Parts: sequence; structure tokens; C-alpha cells
Amino acid sequence: MSRKKTHERALLLDALACENFKRPPVWLMRQAGRYMPQYQAIRKQHSLLTCFNDPDLATEITLLPIDLLKVDAAILFSDILIIVKAFGLQLDFIEGKGPQIHPILVTRKQIDLLPSPDLNRLKHVASTIQQLKRELTVPLIGFAGGPFTVASYMMGGLSLVKKFAYTDPKAMHELLEKILQATISYLDMQVTAGCEVLQIFDSWAGLLPLQAFEEFCVHYLQKIVQTFKEKVPVVVFTRGSSLFANHLAAIAPNCISLDWQLPMKEVRSSISKKISLQGNLDPDILRSSIPKIREETRNLLALMHRDPGFIVNLGHGVLPDTPLENVQAFVETVKEFF
Ligand code: CP3
Repeated sequence: MSRKKTHERALLLDALACENFKRPPVWLMRQAGRYMPQYQAIRKQHSLLTCFNDPDLATEITLLPIDLLKVDAAILFSDILIIVKAFGLQLDFIEGKGPQIHPILVTRKQIDLLPSPDLNRLKHVASTIQQLKRELTVPLIGFAGGPFTVASYMMGGLSLVKKFAYTDPKAMHELLEKILQATISYLDMQVTAGCEVLQIFDSWAGLLPLQAFEEFCVHYLQKIVQTFKEKVPVVVFTRGSSLFANHLAAIAPNCISLDWQLPMKEVRSSISKKISLQGNLDPDILRSSIPKIREETRNLLALMHRDPGFIVNLGHGVLPDTPLENVQAFVETVKEFF
């Protein structure tokens, strides 16, 4: 199937520059996923890790939403936790239990002994990107986790990472610095291979008290943004991003990806017009009826009408039991509106 749609290529990049005067671009976090029968069929044959590691499969899955939904951007099919392999840690995804990292980091000594990251272990990601670039005419979004969120998985969860950070902040910063350096190298590899946009998923950061967010997240996000902003636009996402939007804006990313908690217009009124805003339909809306989806999507579009920095997305990823037709109705509504 031809994916040639060159006139739409610039929509996302224009919106990220806050210079889009056409209809807003639309894509969805977790747009290639379990809600798609086509994805489920692939997963019946291959484990999740095989899908992430095999460039042919990762390419095929990344392209599913381009063909089935006609979205304006592709996001690399991978996971924020793949990076732990660069430190020689083992990563598994266990059905029903989510990601498991082995060994979990518990002591300061383990942090000290963590080897320098070996990016060769992630080379398959560069191969996937190169393969995708030959097929795609919409921009390709690369991504990584925010250092704090990756650290929380490496340490066995949010509660454990908070306990460690409050007890031994110095060791916490040592770990975050190591993850930061690996993340910068990994994102650099993605940009060199052809990603035109980067999104940082610091999912857990927004759940910290503001002071801890300032202490354990801001510096690291800022370093990532500063390193890449001149080369490619950088989007920052956290859960709780509507409430933390002003603090995220201080990091000066090109775009903030907002959760669904506040109306976007309300957030827009306090954020610089130079920062693009992405979001923020509640993913649960996509599990309701098609008329309701159309109504809520039109409300969002009306609210943000003619905002040159607006990118239509959800407040978080598509939920597993969302009917494909509902997601298609969401994308169609955006494309018809302008
Ligand atoms: O947006 C996309 O479609 C790109 C691919 C992508 C995945 N994970 C694929 C995935 C992205 C951007 C992520 C990000 C991610 N991964 C985050 C940050 C965003 C967020 O949701 O807050 C986090 C915290 C993770 C870690 C992770 N990976 C968890 C907690 C789980 C298990 C629960 C879940 O959400 O499914 C995963 C597994 C995972 N990541 C799957 C996929 C497609 C598995 C689903 C399946 O079984 O097919």
C-alpha cells in the first residue's frame, strides 16, 4: 500500500514549531497496541520482546496505525525500558504482571557497580528506524523514558525509588546521572538513524511532590531538552502534566503532552505561545460510543481552534479494550473538522 501523503508530512512539525495554520495533526500514544486485532494476531506468533527486538516486526507494527488509522505521525514500536539492556540488566515482560527487571537495584553498591552503558545492545532500534524511514512519509517519533521513571522501574517501583531517593539522595543522583548519559546516547542514536521528533515519557515524575520533582526530575529533563532541541523538537509527557504544566514549561521543551485533568484551553492561558501543547482526550472516552467520541473530540477541537501549536492526542495511551472503529472515528473527526 502506498503511504505517500507528502502534503501532511509537515503538519506535526509545523505544530511543534507553533506555526501550523492548517488542521491540527493527530496521533495517539500507544497507537499500535493490544486494541488492534492485527497487532493481537502478530502477538499470537511472537513474544513482546521479539516484537521489540526484531526490526522487521517492529517496523510492521509501527506501520499498522499509519495504514489503519491514517494518523499524522508514527511512533517507534519499542518500550522505555529497553534501555536497561544497555546496562547489562535483564528485561522481561510477563503476561498480566508488566515489565520485570533483573536484578533490581537495591543498594548504593549496585549503583556504583553498574557498568557503562553499551549502546551496541540497542542497535536493532537503529535498524528499525532506518527501515521505517524507507516506508514512511509522516514524521517518525523516537522516544525514551525520563531518567526518574526509568530509575523507578530499575529499583522495583515508585514506592521503593522514593524511599531510596529520600534516604540517600546522593546515590539517587548518581543513578539518575548514569541513566541520563545512557538516554542521551540512545536518543542520539535514534536521531542519527532518522527520528524527526523525540518524546520523553517521564510518566511517574508528575506524581511526586513538587519539591521532589524539582530535585530528581527537572535537571535531567532539562539536560535532555537542551541537548536535542536545536536538532529536533522535544515533547515532554508526565502523568499529572496538566497540574504541573507551568513547571514543565520552565524546562522549555518544544511541546508539553497534557493528561486529561484540565481543559487544554485553561492550561494554554498560562503557557508561553512558543510551546506547543499535545493532548488531551481522556482515553476512556474512546471506550464509549462513536457519537460521544465525535462530540468530545469536536469540543476539544473547538476549544483549541486555530491554536498553531495544538497537536491532537489522548491524555495517556489507548486502553487495551478500545474498539478499533472508535479510534478511527476519533482520527476522522479531527480530519473533518477544519
Ligand atoms: O506509543 C507507542 O505505541 C509506542 C510504544 C510504547 C510502548 N510503551 C509499547 C509497549 C511506548 C511509548 C511505551 C512507553 C512506556 N512503557 C511507558 C511510558 C508511558 C506510560 O504509559 O506511562 C511506561 C511506563 C512503560 C513501561 C511498560 N511497558 C509497562 C508498565 C508495560 C505493561 C503495561 C502496559 O501498559 O501494557 C509495558 C508493556 C508495553 N509497552 C507493551 C507495549 C506495546 C505491551 C502491551 C502488549 O502486551 O502488547
